Amino acid sequence: MSPLCLCMLVLIVMAAIDFSKCPMLEDVQRLTDDLLKNHNSLLRPRRNQSEVLIFNLNVELITILEFNEVEETLSIMAIMYMSWKDDQLVWNPRKYNGIQATRLRSEQVWTPPLVPLNSVTKIEQIGHNHSWLLVYVLSHGLVYFSPGLLLSTKCEVDVTYYPWDEHNCKLLFVVWGYLDKEVAINPIEHEVGRTYYTENGAWELKGSKIWVFEITMQIVLRLKRRPEYVLVNAVCPIVFLSFVSTIVFLIPAASGERVSFSLTILLSIAVFFTIIGDSLPKTSKSLSIFSLYLLFIMVTIIFATLANIFSLYIYYKDEQNPVTQCWVKFTRCILCRSKKRPMKSRGQSQHDGKHPNVQDKCIKNNQSCLPYIVASVSNDTDECRCTNSKDSDTSIEDKFDRNENFSWKDVSVAVDRLLFILCFMIVSISTIVFAVLMVK
Ligand SMILES: *[C@@H]1O[C@H](CO)[C@@H](O)[C@H](O)[C@H]1NC(C)=O
Ligand SMILES: *[C@@H]1O[C@H](CO)[C@@H](O)[C@H](O)[C@H]1NC(C)=O
Repeated sequence: MSPLCLCMLVLIVMAAIDFSKCPMLEDVQRLTDDLLKNHNSLLRPRRNQSEVLIFNLNVELITILEFNEVEETLSIMAIMYMSWKDDQLVWNPRKYNGIQATRLRSEQVWTPPLVPLNSVTKIEQIGHNHSWLLVYVLSHGLVYFSPGLLLSTKCEVDVTYYPWDEHNCKLLFVVWGYLDKEVAINPIEHEVGRTYYTENGAWELKGSKIWVFEITMQIVLRLKRRPEYVLVNAVCPIVFLSFVSTIVFLIPAASGERVSFSLTILLSIAVFFTIIGDSLPKTSKSLSIFSLYLLFIMVTIIFATLANIFSLYIYYKDEQNPVTQCWVKFTRCILCRSKKRPMKSRGQSQHDGKHPNVQDKCIKNNQSCLPYIVASVSNDTDECRCTNSKDSDTSIEDKFDRNENFSWKDVSVAVDRLLFILCFMIVSISTIVFAVLMVK
């Protein structure tokens, strides 16, 4: 008989012996009674009390229930898989009709007093007070215990890059009441398991890490906000609104709509400011760049509103007061700079001027011109002519050169033009700076 066949035979015989032993209910009852007879669940289950009790630990994350960045709390649901060797729970299976394993209530045996330290609700041993929890015990004393965990912990929030923020949430655990010479944690994996993990809609789990130091354990969850919601509901509307707010200077002053337009935009931004403020933690430790951008935009719009009122004040200034020399210089400077299209504004602004109104005169003479072609009166013949605005540039320069008087309305147009360019640039630059900071 070959050694292999012999070996097979031995195995078959052993299996047959094990099959013949079929544990009955009485055997389980006897085993449970024997195990618990002299058992004290408060004692550290090591025969040699100088030895360290090492328990293996595996953390399985089920879901992130909520991450409340306003209150800075993180609620998770997880399962802790623990196993250790209990010298009090050892038996010989032969004595109990071949029972290899049994189950006991977790409160009847020693369980590692692992306590979450930064919980915001209560300090309590994991699996404590869950009398329905069972432990699975093997005949050589290996105990398996897998309590569920519904935990709310404090998690410091750094919203500098809101809504592209990432947070490292730390869950701290300690083996309460034992020294590191007595009990040690042995994490099987160095990150949380995600076999049963369900994704959270607002937060993405980017990674995790489990650190163990003596009797403390720290689980770090790296959470990243999914920014699409905030992007669509706050960032985009605010950026668009801030650009819309600059066109207030293009609204004709005579329409009387300018101040109400500015104030409406200001109110909308204020509403967004409130909404964003409500969704951020009320802490001054880290200010979000987005809030600062919002504040800056708000200040710009307030400035635009005030500037707008100032421009209107100039527009409606009494024409009896002559335009001062400094304003004349200013107007000439601004309107000369943007020489390409000065005719529209000048055409409008000349309506109430003291100067002969070219357009009116020409219309009286039944000569009207296309919008971009300007009617003008030739100096010597007093005749109406339609000129392309390009050709008429020389005549405006002539007027400037001839030191022709400006009305206050011309000054207002120049002020508007400057303010529009200024505000547009401020908003553009701040938006670009915001975008660059965010990309970093
Ligand atoms: C108990 O454990 C300690 C440390 O492992 C060892 O030095 C000692 O010999 C052990 N005592 C017995 C009686 O086994
Ligand atoms: C255990 O749970 C019961 C109800 O489930 C509760 O009344 C009791 O206060 C809890 N005990 C502790 C120590 O938390």
